[in-house]
Amino acid sequence: MQSTVIAPSILSANFAKLGEEVDNVLAAGADWVHFDVMDNHYVPNLTIGPLVCEALRKHGVTAPIDVHLMVQPVDRIVPDFAKAGASVISFHPEASAHVHRTIQLIKSLGCQAGLVLNPATPVEVLDYVLEDLDLVLLMSVNPGFGGQSFIPSALDKLKRVRGMIDKTGKPIRLEIDGGVKTDNIAQIATAGADTFVAGSAIFGQSDYAGIVRRMKDAVAG
Ligand code: DX5
Ligand code: ZN
Repeated sequence: MQSTVIAPSILSANFAKLGEEVDNVLAAGADWVHFDVMDNHYVPNLTIGPLVCEALRKHGVTAPIDVHLMVQPVDRIVPDFAKAGASVISFHPEASAHVHRTIQLIKSLGCQAGLVLNPATPVEVLDYVLEDLDLVLLMSVNPGFGGQSFIPSALDKLKRVRGMIDKTGKPIRLEIDGGVKTDNIAQIATAGADTFVAGSAIFGQSDYAGIVRRMKDAVAG
């Protein structure tokens, strides 16, 4: 099992002062920055692109930037994010014509590769590619918006994917995204997640350090 990572989703941050928000949440003990990219095509919302990722690096952010691509097609934008300083690049299999090729493309550019499963995407999509991945991201909401409720069937899916990952013997992270809060994170950790995205739960509070600490304490049991 990997170390615990809390990855605040900046989708719920104040974009008018994004650099400061990211500095504050990292100073509060967050480990990664979760960077949601939406294209108003694959998902019904439009957010930020490589320019903003690059701006965060220029601002001095050294923590891993965990890019969650909700865009179609995928391959065209991957090199731009690699150049902009992305650490992990994850994508949805439904948005790529050639999933294996996209994974290899991400890795060839020096980034870690992740595959994202929507709530209704079967775990079998991981067959034949799991060992090539650095991370599996399970959506516990339908992608497109922050602030939605955790879909309970994600817990069973986490258990199944945890078993698949353990069988490989490889240090593949299992990340969960959507509706993660202080009151359900322990149950989510027990089901097998080691990497936790939280947007509204963190940025909706004024005390970032308090909430990150409560999340880590709950995961540690
Ligand atoms: C949803 C995004 C999530 C979202 C999570 O499409 O991928 O990262 O920001 O937000 P919360 O934690 O508020 O559900
Ligand atoms: Zn996300």
